[in-house]
Amino acid sequence: MPVFKSEEKLSPEYVPARLVHREGELTFLRTLFSSLRTGAAYHVRAVIVGSVGTGKTSLAKLFGRTLESEGFGERTRVIYTHLNCRINRSLFSVLRRIADHLGVATPRRGYSDQEVLENIMETLRRRDAHLVLCLDEADVLISEEGSDPIYFLTRAGEDIGEGGRISLILVLRDPDYVERLDPQTKSGLGGSTIHLKEYSREQLFDILKYRASEGFFEGAVDDEILDFIAEIGAERGDARYTIDILWRSGKFAEAEGAPRINPEHVRKAVASVYPTIRRENLSYLSRDETFVLLACAKSLTAGRTHVASSEVYDMYRILCEERNIISKGYTTFWENLQQLQDLGFIRITVKSEGMKGRKSLISLPSIPVNLLIEELMKGLKP
Ligand SMILES: Nc1ncnc2c1ncn2[C@@H]1O[C@H](COP(=O)(O)OP(=O)(O)OP(=O)(O)O)[C@@H](O)[C@H]1O
Ligand SMILES: [Mg+2]
Repeated sequence: MPVFKSEEKLSPEYVPARLVHREGELTFLRTLFSSLRTGAAYHVRAVIVGSVGTGKTSLAKLFGRTLESEGFGERTRVIYTHLNCRINRSLFSVLRRIADHLGVATPRRGYSDQEVLENIMETLRRRDAHLVLCLDEADVLISEEGSDPIYFLTRAGEDIGEGGRISLILVLRDPDYVERLDPQTKSGLGGSTIHLKEYSREQLFDILKYRASEGFFEGAVDDEILDFIAEIGAERGDARYTIDILWRSGKFAEAEGAPRINPEHVRKAVASVYPTIRRENLSYLSRDETFVLLACAKSLTAGRTHVASSEVYDMYRILCEERNIISKGYTTFWENLQQLQDLGFIRITVKSEGMKGRKSLISLPSIPVNLLIEELMKGLKP
């Protein structure tokens, strides 16, 4: 039984039809651009900032898609062009890409930026079209060429009396880049900035739930697994990383011919992104720490994502007994757990249990349990 229904829907380039928890931002963009829809052809500028994987590119592309399909008014056509400045690092290359997109012939040489722009404007005017240009990863363009390209594009056409034909969306990771622009360029951008915050664990869960429903067959991944992945991803708040873990987990399940993703597939997925298990790291552990880590791993074998610290303690005592070693008290055991967390082997989360108080849960998000047990056992051999 395969797990993937449409694997390509989990690829990083795929733009989903919906952006969970970004509905407000999408509406805000639409409102900003609504002045264009009323026919008062007027350029709009917007800046989208947010760290890695917060949905900037997807938000812009999804917005562009709806713009093109809806149009602005009776007559005016909207053309959305999305350019990545990591690939188009200069104004020269940006302008030529726009020209290509519009089908405007421009000689590769001998044309100034201004001339290419005039050709673009002329084409837009002829077709009665409005261009919405998104400069994605504009940090790269600004660090290569400073304010000039942005200034040039925000003023585009104003000199030729066609100020309304080009709107601009700047996408940046680092908000400081806006500060680095010269004051004139900055004011030309206007004050409409959309800040995308890192996703919380709950938001990542909802995103995963939606994306999993598109990518996987029903029953292939259950909520406990999605929540486990969301917890792992929450440290960064990065949807790309989190969806990547989901996809990789599916690949590990598929490779085993398993009908559904289990916690071990997730751990393998995380370990495959960042190999965290290093033999030399294990060899630095004290004997007590080694036993406590082994107890964590053994408690998590039967397809579990988390285990209560009290259960790990019981397991630890059994392991010590089996080897005729005197086990330590709970306080020392707890210190060992914290040390293991500091070293990045385990994660401790505290769960409130209402009146009953709090419970500490242990998970091993980044190391396949079976591999860890194998390595630890090697180290324990006399
Ligand atoms: N709210 C969301 N709902 C569903 N999927 C999302 C959401 N946000 C992001 N994604 C998905 O996460 C991945 C990363 O998103 P995106 O590429 O838009 O991030 P970004 O902010 O542009 O990151 P970067 O700074 O690295 O360019 C994409 O595959 C996207 O489809
Ligand atoms: Mg992006």
